[in-house]
Amino acid sequence: MFDAPHPGSVVDGYFGIFAKLRALSLLDSRTPTIYEAGLAEFYDHVIGAQVADVGVLQRVMNVPPSTRILDLACGSGRVGMPLAEAGHHVDGLEISHDMLRLAEQKRSALPADVAARLTFRHGDMTRFELSERYGVVLIGATSISLLLEAEQRQGLFQCVKRHLEPDGKFVFDIVDLRGERWERIHNYLDVWTHESDTGEEFAIVGQVIVPGTRRFTFNVYREFVDWSGTTQRAIGTSTKVRLDPDELRQELSQAGLTIVSETETDHAIVIVASHV
Ligand SMILES: C[S@@+](CC[C@H](N)C(=O)[O-])C[C@H]1O[C@@H](n2cnc3c(N)ncnc32)[C@H](O)[C@@H]1O
Repeated sequence: MFDAPHPGSVVDGYFGIFAKLRALSLLDSRTPTIYEAGLAEFYDHVIGAQVADVGVLQRVMNVPPSTRILDLACGSGRVGMPLAEAGHHVDGLEISHDMLRLAEQKRSALPADVAARLTFRHGDMTRFELSERYGVVLIGATSISLLLEAEQRQGLFQCVKRHLEPDGKFVFDIVDLRGERWERIHNYLDVWTHESDTGEEFAIVGQVIVPGTRRFTFNVYREFVDWSGTTQRAIGTSTKVRLDPDELRQELSQAGLTIVSETETDHAIVIVASHV
């Protein structure tokens, strides 16, 4: 039905059918990432509903109620909201204004006591300065892998170290791409559909490994039709890098952090680090 993405053709972040769709003039917006404009809603509808990893993160964190948590790259609050519901005080930091808008919308629908334990602010996880110190600094949904360069991750680790309480925990997950899992993520292509109160949408999603690198690129082309029949179209890209615990151990130690546990789930490794 679709052209399979060609392995040698990631250009400006787009490959295969996505590169062709991007070139068409029918697009209402062209977003550079999958976390902006119409694609923020797409992420929130499709991924935002998934919570299986939140329980794992909570178990691994193993902290008392009312812990102060910093949720980096918090998106639309998928992880932070259940943590606030569990009694923690959660500050979310996020670079996409569109994701923050959704997070605020959802926060305003929460019971007042839960909403009062939750804040969202704009910022870059590789360079931020907040006045608070945290019992847990968290990065969910393997978002650390969006930091493609070691210098960006070093910026993150230095910031995390400064913001952790002396016995605080830095908790994050990475996609488990060891062994043959790596090849399996290449040439993925699918159609996702979703219906909500506001309308229905479909998205063509695909992923390829960028040839000769440890990077993999995810593309989305989404059409959303509201119940009045108006169609919005958007296309976006996101590239992640394959990280493994050994290189992270070294990078973390440069920043004065050390890995204290690694927990394997179906597709990810959840890492807890603390001050050396
Ligand atoms: C995969 S989503 C995860 C969202 C949320 N943590 C979750 O678990 O659903 C990645 C998020 O990271 C954000 N992001 C990417 N680079 C960032 C940066 N340098 N600083 C802060 N947020 C960033 C994106 O805008 C996006 O919302």
